[in-house]
Amino acid sequence: MGIEIIGIGSYLPEKILTNIDLEKLVETSDEWITTRTGIKERRIASESEATSDLAIKAAERAISNAKISPEEIDAIIVATITPDMAFPSTACFVQKGLKAVNSAAFDISAACSGFIYGLTIGKDLIKSGTFNTVLVIGGETLSKITDWHDRNTCVLLGDAAGAVILRKTNSSSDILSSYLGANGNYSDLLLMPGGGSRNPTTHKTVDEQLHYLKMEGNKLFKIAVKAMADSAQKAIALAGITCNDVNLIIPHQANIRIVEAVAKLLNVSMDKVFLNIHKYGNTSAATTPVALEEAIREGKVKKGDIVTLVAFGGGLTWGAVVIRL
Ligand code: ACO
Repeated sequence: MGIEIIGIGSYLPEKILTNIDLEKLVETSDEWITTRTGIKERRIASESEATSDLAIKAAERAISNAKISPEEIDAIIVATITPDMAFPSTACFVQKGLKAVNSAAFDISAACSGFIYGLTIGKDLIKSGTFNTVLVIGGETLSKITDWHDRNTCVLLGDAAGAVILRKTNSSSDILSSYLGANGNYSDLLLMPGGGSRNPTTHKTVDEQLHYLKMEGNKLFKIAVKAMADSAQKAIALAGITCNDVNLIIPHQANIRIVEAVAKLLNVSMDKVFLNIHKYGNTSAATTPVALEEAIREGKVKKGDIVTLVAFGGGLTWGAVVIRL
Protein backbone atom coordinates (compact mmCIF):
# COMPACT_ATOMS: atom_id res chain seq x y z
CA MET A 1 0.00 0.00 0.00
CA GLY A 2 1.31 3.46 -0.90
CA ILE A 3 0.27 7.09 -0.97
CA GLU A 4 -0.33 8.91 -4.25
CA ILE A 5 -0.47 12.66 -4.82
CA ILE A 6 -3.53 12.83 -7.09
CA GLY A 7 -4.06 16.58 -7.33
CA ILE A 8 -2.39 19.93 -6.69
CA GLY A 9 -3.56 23.55 -6.80
CA SER A 10 -2.54 27.00 -5.65
CA TYR A 11 -4.00 30.46 -5.29
CA LEU A 12 -2.33 33.87 -5.11
CA PRO A 13 -4.34 37.00 -4.28
CA GLU A 14 -4.57 39.51 -7.14
CA LYS A 15 -3.03 42.53 -5.44
CA ILE A 16 0.71 42.92 -6.06
CA LEU A 17 2.81 45.00 -3.65
CA THR A 18 6.20 45.85 -5.14
CA ASN A 19 9.42 46.93 -3.43
CA ILE A 20 8.84 50.37 -4.96
CA ASP A 21 5.44 50.50 -3.22
CA LEU A 22 7.17 49.61 0.06
CA GLU A 23 9.66 52.46 -0.38
CA LYS A 24 6.65 54.75 0.18
CA LEU A 25 5.65 52.96 3.41
CA VAL A 26 8.94 52.48 5.29
CA GLU A 27 12.58 53.60 5.15
CA THR A 28 13.80 50.97 2.67
CA SER A 29 14.82 50.56 -0.96
CA ASP A 30 14.23 48.15 -3.82
CA GLU A 31 18.00 47.66 -3.90
CA TRP A 32 18.20 46.66 -0.17
CA ILE A 33 15.25 44.26 -0.37
CA THR A 34 16.45 42.66 -3.62
CA THR A 35 20.06 42.13 -2.58
CA ARG A 36 19.32 41.08 1.04
CA THR A 37 16.31 38.84 0.34
CA GLY A 38 15.75 38.21 -3.40
CA ILE A 39 12.19 39.53 -3.13
CA LYS A 40 10.85 41.96 -5.77
CA GLU A 41 7.13 41.78 -5.05
CA ARG A 42 4.53 39.91 -3.00
CA ARG A 43 0.77 39.26 -3.13
CA ILE A 44 -1.58 40.80 -0.57
CA ALA A 45 -5.07 39.52 0.27
CA SER A 46 -7.92 42.03 0.11
CA GLU A 47 -9.51 43.35 3.30
CA SER A 48 -12.39 40.89 2.94
CA GLU A 49 -10.20 37.85 2.17
CA ALA A 50 -9.32 35.55 5.09
CA THR A 51 -6.97 32.56 4.99
CA SER A 52 -9.85 30.12 4.35
CA ASP A 53 -10.85 32.09 1.23
CA LEU A 54 -7.38 31.57 -0.27
CA ALA A 55 -7.30 27.96 0.95
CA ILE A 56 -10.69 27.16 -0.61
CA LYS A 57 -9.57 28.49 -4.01
CA ALA A 58 -6.33 26.47 -3.89
CA ALA A 59 -8.28 23.36 -2.78
CA GLU A 60 -10.87 23.77 -5.56
CA ARG A 61 -8.03 23.76 -8.09
CA ALA A 62 -6.48 20.66 -6.48
CA ILE A 63 -9.86 18.89 -6.49
CA SER A 64 -10.38 19.74 -10.17
CA ASN A 65 -6.80 18.62 -10.95
CA ALA A 66 -7.44 15.31 -9.12
CA LYS A 67 -10.78 14.88 -10.93
CA ILE A 68 -12.58 13.92 -7.73
CA SER A 69 -15.64 15.34 -5.99
CA PRO A 70 -15.38 17.14 -2.59
CA GLU A 71 -17.51 14.39 -1.01
CA GLU A 72 -14.64 11.93 -1.57
CA ILE A 73 -12.36 13.83 0.86
CA ASP A 74 -12.05 12.09 4.26
CA ALA A 75 -9.94 14.72 6.05
CA ILE A 76 -8.87 18.33 5.59
CA ILE A 77 -5.65 19.53 7.22
CA VAL A 78 -4.86 23.24 7.07
CA ALA A 79 -1.35 24.34 8.05
CA THR A 80 -1.46 28.01 9.01
CA ILE A 81 -0.29 30.58 11.55
CA THR A 82 -2.91 33.04 10.30
CA PRO A 83 -6.17 31.17 10.94
CA ASP A 84 -9.45 32.97 10.19
CA MET A 85 -9.95 33.09 13.99
CA ALA A 86 -8.72 31.19 17.08
CA PHE A 87 -11.58 28.74 16.59
CA PRO A 88 -13.34 27.16 14.76
CA SER A 89 -10.40 25.84 12.79
CA THR A 90 -9.74 27.28 9.35
CA ALA A 91 -10.10 23.70 8.08
CA CYS A 92 -13.77 23.76 9.18
CA PHE A 93 -14.36 26.93 7.12
CA VAL A 94 -12.64 25.23 4.18
CA GLN A 95 -14.83 22.13 4.63
CA LYS A 96 -17.94 24.34 4.57
CA GLY A 97 -16.73 26.25 1.48
CA LEU A 98 -15.90 23.08 -0.44
CA LYS A 99 -19.04 21.23 0.72
CA ALA A 100 -16.71 18.38 1.66
CA VAL A 101 -19.49 16.96 3.83
CA ASN A 102 -17.78 13.63 4.60
CA SER A 103 -14.50 14.99 5.93
CA ALA A 104 -12.90 15.51 9.31
CA ALA A 105 -11.17 18.88 9.56
CA PHE A 106 -8.39 20.36 11.68
CA ASP A 107 -5.56 22.90 11.63
CA ILE A 108 -1.92 22.46 12.50
CA SER A 109 0.49 25.15 13.65
CA ALA A 110 4.10 24.70 12.60
CA ALA A 111 4.66 28.08 10.89
CA CYS A 112 6.68 27.87 7.67
CA SER A 113 7.24 24.12 8.16
CA GLY A 114 3.46 23.60 8.44
CA PHE A 115 2.94 22.11 4.99
CA ILE A 116 5.75 19.57 5.53
CA TYR A 117 4.20 18.65 8.89
CA GLY A 118 0.73 18.45 7.28
CA LEU A 119 1.91 16.27 4.43
CA THR A 120 3.51 13.90 6.95
CA ILE A 121 0.35 13.72 9.09
CA GLY A 122 -1.82 13.19 5.98
CA LYS A 123 0.45 10.42 4.73
CA ASP A 124 0.42 8.67 8.10
CA LEU A 125 -3.36 8.98 8.50
CA ILE A 126 -3.71 7.12 5.21
CA LYS A 127 -0.94 4.64 6.04
CA SER A 128 -2.62 3.78 9.36
CA GLY A 129 -5.86 2.97 7.55
CA THR A 130 -7.83 5.83 9.15
CA PHE A 131 -8.57 7.66 5.86
CA ASN A 132 -8.32 7.06 2.10
CA THR A 133 -8.28 10.62 0.76
CA VAL A 134 -6.74 13.60 2.56
CA LEU A 135 -6.58 17.26 1.47
CA VAL A 136 -3.50 19.06 2.85
CA ILE A 137 -3.36 22.85 2.54
CA GLY A 138 -0.69 25.40 3.43
CA GLY A 139 -2.42 28.78 3.54
CA GLU A 140 -1.52 32.16 4.98
CA THR A 141 -2.55 35.79 5.06
CA LEU A 142 0.60 37.07 6.78
CA SER A 143 -0.29 40.60 5.66
CA LYS A 144 -2.96 40.57 8.40
CA ILE A 145 -0.38 40.12 11.20
CA THR A 146 2.30 42.33 9.63
CA ASP A 147 3.35 45.61 11.21
CA TRP A 148 3.45 47.82 8.12
CA HIS A 149 5.69 50.29 9.98
CA ASP A 150 8.38 47.66 10.72
CA ARG A 151 10.86 47.47 7.84
CA ASN A 152 12.55 44.43 9.42
CA THR A 153 9.51 42.25 8.68
CA CYS A 154 7.05 43.96 6.31
CA VAL A 155 9.32 43.67 3.27
CA LEU A 156 9.57 39.89 3.67
CA LEU A 157 6.00 38.61 3.92
CA GLY A 158 3.15 37.79 1.56
CA ASP A 159 -0.13 35.87 1.21
CA ALA A 160 -0.86 32.62 -0.67
CA ALA A 161 -2.28 29.11 -0.44
CA GLY A 162 -1.32 25.77 -1.93
CA ALA A 163 -3.07 22.40 -1.68
CA VAL A 164 -2.46 18.75 -2.48
CA ILE A 165 -4.73 15.71 -2.36
CA LEU A 166 -3.27 12.46 -1.08
CA ARG A 167 -4.91 9.09 -1.74
CA LYS A 168 -4.30 5.46 -0.84
CA THR A 169 -2.98 3.44 -3.76
CA ASN A 170 -2.02 -0.18 -4.27
CA SER A 171 1.14 0.78 -6.15
CA SER A 172 4.36 2.17 -4.65
CA SER A 173 4.25 5.37 -2.61
CA ASP A 174 4.80 8.89 -3.97
CA ILE A 175 5.97 10.04 -0.53
CA LEU A 176 9.31 8.33 -0.04
CA SER A 177 10.30 9.76 3.33
CA SER A 178 9.73 12.48 5.88
CA TYR A 179 11.83 14.05 8.61
CA LEU A 180 10.48 16.56 11.18
CA GLY A 181 12.17 18.51 13.98
CA ALA A 182 11.64 21.39 16.41
CA ASN A 183 13.33 23.38 19.17
CA GLY A 184 11.00 25.38 21.44
CA ASN A 185 14.00 27.00 23.17
CA TYR A 186 14.13 29.37 20.20
CA SER A 187 10.42 30.29 20.40
CA ASP A 188 11.22 33.95 21.11
CA LEU A 189 12.99 34.47 17.77
CA LEU A 190 9.79 34.39 15.71
CA LEU A 191 6.37 34.85 17.26
CA MET A 192 3.12 36.76 17.52
CA PRO A 193 2.88 37.34 21.29
CA GLY A 194 -0.65 38.76 21.52
CA GLY A 195 -4.13 37.32 21.24
CA GLY A 196 -3.55 33.93 22.91
CA SER A 197 -3.89 32.78 26.53
CA ARG A 198 -0.43 34.24 27.44
CA ASN A 199 -1.44 37.77 26.41
CA PRO A 200 -5.20 37.85 25.80
CA THR A 201 -6.19 40.79 23.60
CA THR A 202 -6.73 44.00 25.56
CA HIS A 203 -6.32 47.68 24.70
CA LYS A 204 -2.88 47.36 26.34
CA THR A 205 -1.73 44.45 24.12
CA VAL A 206 -2.90 46.36 21.06
CA ASP A 207 -1.13 49.55 22.22
CA GLU A 208 2.01 47.43 22.70
CA GLN A 209 1.50 46.00 19.19
CA LEU A 210 1.62 42.41 20.41
CA HIS A 211 -0.78 41.40 17.63
CA TYR A 212 1.99 41.67 15.04
CA LEU A 213 4.60 39.14 13.93
CA LYS A 214 7.99 39.77 15.61
CA MET A 215 11.20 38.35 14.25
CA GLU A 216 14.91 38.36 15.01
CA GLY A 217 15.91 37.80 11.41
CA ASN A 218 19.64 37.81 11.84
CA LYS A 219 19.66 35.08 14.54
CA LEU A 220 17.14 33.01 12.58
CA PHE A 221 19.22 33.17 9.42
CA LYS A 222 22.07 31.02 10.75
CA ILE A 223 19.80 28.46 12.41
CA ALA A 224 17.64 28.25 9.25
CA VAL A 225 20.58 27.38 7.01
CA LYS A 226 21.78 24.56 9.26
CA ALA A 227 18.31 23.18 10.05
CA MET A 228 17.21 23.15 6.40
CA ALA A 229 20.39 21.51 5.11
CA ASP A 230 20.25 18.97 7.93
CA SER A 231 16.54 18.18 7.35
CA ALA A 232 17.03 17.71 3.61
CA GLN A 233 20.02 15.41 4.19
CA LYS A 234 18.11 13.32 6.75
CA ALA A 235 14.97 12.96 4.60
CA ILE A 236 17.07 12.06 1.54
CA ALA A 237 18.98 9.42 3.54
CA LEU A 238 15.69 8.04 4.93
CA ALA A 239 14.46 7.66 1.32
CA GLY A 240 17.53 5.50 0.66
CA ILE A 241 18.87 7.84 -2.03
CA THR A 242 21.53 10.56 -2.33
CA CYS A 243 21.34 14.25 -3.27
CA ASN A 244 22.41 13.28 -6.80
CA ASP A 245 19.17 11.30 -7.23
CA VAL A 246 17.05 14.37 -6.43
CA ASN A 247 15.82 16.20 -9.56
CA LEU A 248 14.62 19.34 -7.79
CA ILE A 249 14.87 20.84 -4.31
CA ILE A 250 11.95 23.06 -3.31
CA PRO A 251 13.05 25.05 -0.27
CA HIS A 252 10.94 27.33 1.91
CA GLN A 253 11.22 30.74 0.26
CA ALA A 254 12.31 32.95 3.19
CA ASN A 255 15.44 34.53 1.79
CA ILE A 256 17.44 33.78 -1.37
CA ARG A 257 20.68 33.95 0.64
CA ILE A 258 19.41 31.23 3.01
CA VAL A 259 18.50 29.08 -0.01
CA GLU A 260 21.92 29.61 -1.63
CA ALA A 261 23.69 28.73 1.62
CA VAL A 262 21.58 25.56 1.99
CA ALA A 263 22.37 24.54 -1.61
CA LYS A 264 26.07 25.05 -0.90
CA LEU A 265 25.93 22.84 2.23
CA LEU A 266 24.08 20.16 0.24
CA ASN A 267 26.62 20.52 -2.58
CA VAL A 268 23.78 21.06 -5.06
CA SER A 269 23.92 23.59 -7.90
CA MET A 270 21.29 26.36 -7.88
CA ASP A 271 19.75 25.14 -11.14
CA LYS A 272 18.47 22.13 -9.16
CA VAL A 273 16.77 24.49 -6.68
CA PHE A 274 13.34 26.02 -7.33
CA LEU A 275 12.90 29.73 -6.62
CA ASN A 276 9.85 31.98 -6.84
CA ILE A 277 10.68 34.21 -3.87
CA HIS A 278 11.07 37.21 -6.22
CA LYS A 279 7.34 37.04 -7.03
CA TYR A 280 5.72 36.10 -3.72
CA GLY A 281 8.15 36.65 -0.81
CA ASN A 282 7.78 34.52 2.30
CA THR A 283 4.25 33.08 2.49
CA SER A 284 5.09 30.73 5.40
CA ALA A 285 3.23 27.39 5.13
CA ALA A 286 2.17 28.21 1.55
CA THR A 287 5.62 28.54 -0.01
CA THR A 288 6.37 24.85 -0.64
CA PRO A 289 2.98 23.74 -2.10
CA VAL A 290 2.75 26.91 -4.23
CA ALA A 291 6.29 26.29 -5.53
CA LEU A 292 5.58 22.59 -6.17
CA GLU A 293 2.47 23.47 -8.21
CA GLU A 294 4.42 26.07 -10.18
CA ALA A 295 7.37 23.73 -10.81
CA ILE A 296 5.00 21.08 -12.21
CA ARG A 297 2.98 23.59 -14.30
CA GLU A 298 6.15 25.17 -15.75
CA GLY A 299 7.55 21.74 -16.67
CA LYS A 300 10.56 22.07 -14.31
CA VAL A 301 9.72 18.55 -13.12
CA LYS A 302 7.93 15.67 -14.80
CA LYS A 303 6.26 12.40 -13.83
CA GLY A 304 8.73 10.10 -12.06
CA ASP A 305 11.06 12.90 -10.91
CA ILE A 306 12.21 13.02 -7.29
CA VAL A 307 11.58 16.27 -5.41
CA THR A 308 12.66 17.28 -1.89
CA LEU A 309 10.55 19.86 -0.07
CA VAL A 310 12.37 21.45 2.87
CA ALA A 311 11.28 24.16 5.28
CA PHE A 312 12.06 26.02 8.46
CA GLY A 313 9.94 28.37 10.57
CA GLY A 314 8.62 29.71 13.86
CA GLY A 315 8.64 27.37 16.82
CA LEU A 316 11.30 26.81 15.79
CA THR A 317 10.27 23.97 13.51
CA TRP A 318 11.87 22.34 10.50
CA GLY A 319 11.41 19.36 8.24
CA ALA A 320 11.70 17.81 4.79
CA VAL A 321 9.83 15.31 2.64
CA VAL A 322 11.04 13.42 -0.39
CA ILE A 323 8.39 12.70 -3.02
CA ARG A 324 8.29 10.96 -6.39
CA LEU A 325 5.99 12.71 -8.84
N1 ACO B 1 15.37 48.19 4.44
C1 ACO B 1 16.55 48.80 4.71
N2 ACO B 1 17.31 48.47 5.76
C2 ACO B 1 16.87 47.47 6.56
C3 ACO B 1 15.66 46.81 6.33
C4 ACO B 1 14.89 47.21 5.22
N3 ACO B 1 13.72 46.63 4.90
N4 ACO B 1 15.48 45.87 7.27
C5 ACO B 1 16.56 45.93 8.09
N5 ACO B 1 17.39 46.92 7.67
C6 ACO B 1 18.66 47.34 8.25
C7 ACO B 1 18.77 47.00 9.72
O1 ACO B 1 18.13 47.98 10.50
C8 ACO B 1 20.26 46.99 9.91
O2 ACO B 1 20.72 48.32 10.05
P1 ACO B 1 21.86 48.68 11.11
O3 ACO B 1 23.07 47.89 10.65
O4 ACO B 1 21.99 50.14 10.96
O5 ACO B 1 21.33 48.21 12.43
C9 ACO B 1 20.80 46.46 8.56
O6 ACO B 1 19.72 46.63 7.62
C10 ACO B 1 21.20 45.01 8.60
O7 ACO B 1 20.20 44.27 9.30
P2 ACO B 1 20.30 42.73 9.49
O8 ACO B 1 19.13 42.26 10.29
O9 ACO B 1 21.67 42.36 9.95
O10 ACO B 1 20.15 42.26 7.96
P3 ACO B 1 20.27 40.81 7.38
O11 ACO B 1 21.32 40.80 6.35
O12 ACO B 1 20.35 39.76 8.46
O13 ACO B 1 18.87 40.63 6.64
C11 ACO B 1 16.77 39.53 6.98
C12 ACO B 1 17.66 40.70 7.37
C13 ACO B 1 16.40 39.72 5.52
C14 ACO B 1 15.52 39.58 7.84
C15 ACO B 1 17.50 38.19 7.18
O14 ACO B 1 18.11 38.18 8.44
C16 ACO B 1 16.61 36.98 7.06
O15 ACO B 1 16.08 36.66 6.01
N6 ACO B 1 16.45 36.22 8.17
C17 ACO B 1 15.72 34.96 8.18
C18 ACO B 1 14.26 35.13 8.16
C19 ACO B 1 13.60 33.76 8.29
O16 ACO B 1 14.11 32.76 7.82
N7 ACO B 1 12.51 33.67 8.99
C20 ACO B 1 11.97 32.35 9.29
C21 ACO B 1 10.84 32.02 8.51
S1 ACO B 1 9.56 33.23 8.58
C22 ACO B 1 8.16 32.51 9.30
O17 ACO B 1 8.18 31.46 9.91
C23 ACO B 1 6.87 33.31 9.17
